[in-house]
Amino acid sequence: MSKTLILFYSRPGANYVSGNIVNLEKGNCLVVAEKIAATLRQTQGADSVDMFQVKPQKEYSSNYTKCTEEAKAELKADARPAYIGDIDVSPYDNIIVGYPIWWGTFPMPLWTFLENHDFSGKKIIPFSTHEGSGLGYSVKDIQKLCPKANVMAGIAIHGSSAAYCESEIQRIVESI
Ligand SMILES: Cc1cc2nc3c(=O)[nH]c(=O)nc-3n(C[C@H](O)[C@H](O)[C@H](O)COP(=O)(O)O)c2cc1C
Repeated sequence: MSKTLILFYSRPGANYVSGNIVNLEKGNCLVVAEKIAATLRQTQGADSVDMFQVKPQKEYSSNYTKCTEEAKAELKADARPAYIGDIDVSPYDNIIVGYPIWWGTFPMPLWTFLENHDFSGKKIIPFSTHEGSGLGYSVKDIQKLCPKANVMAGIAIHGSSAAYCESEIQRIVESI
């Protein structure tokens, strides 16, 4: 049985969804990650999948606009913000990497995580949630950070569809 890790970043609270600032009790990527995990547990067994959420040591502002400014400054500085905890990725054959698109790519704490681990020979299946950018530059950035992994094309999910994205979940699960 192949083992899958769902590695994801997600920020609850004030966010931009379909033209409005809304308060997300649960971040969109967390919603999608939980759906993928539930499907894999049903189809491939309870022990076939684990999840790890990359959480920054220094929280971003709960204010949406301030958070976008902080994220922009980090991207510009090519920063590598620290995250909380860690996981050994070596036991996993497949890594599903989920993230919101921030300024065309994924949040910088996930850059830190990807750079700190060895993904040689592993299959990486990216998915994003977004408000119009799709996958942006994210798949190219993952390829850059994980040059020895087999990085798949990636699947983009609009934030407002996070709770209703069964066909995308199916495509993600089928690409394992
Ligand atoms: C700092 C920041 C930057 C963002 N930049 C983009 C962007 O460049 N393109 C886009 O389509 N959406 C952008 N968004 C919207 C998020 O990608 C979208 O709301 C996503 O579904 C949030 O996922 P989450 O709730 O799991 O964090 C941005 C949101 C934030 C907070």
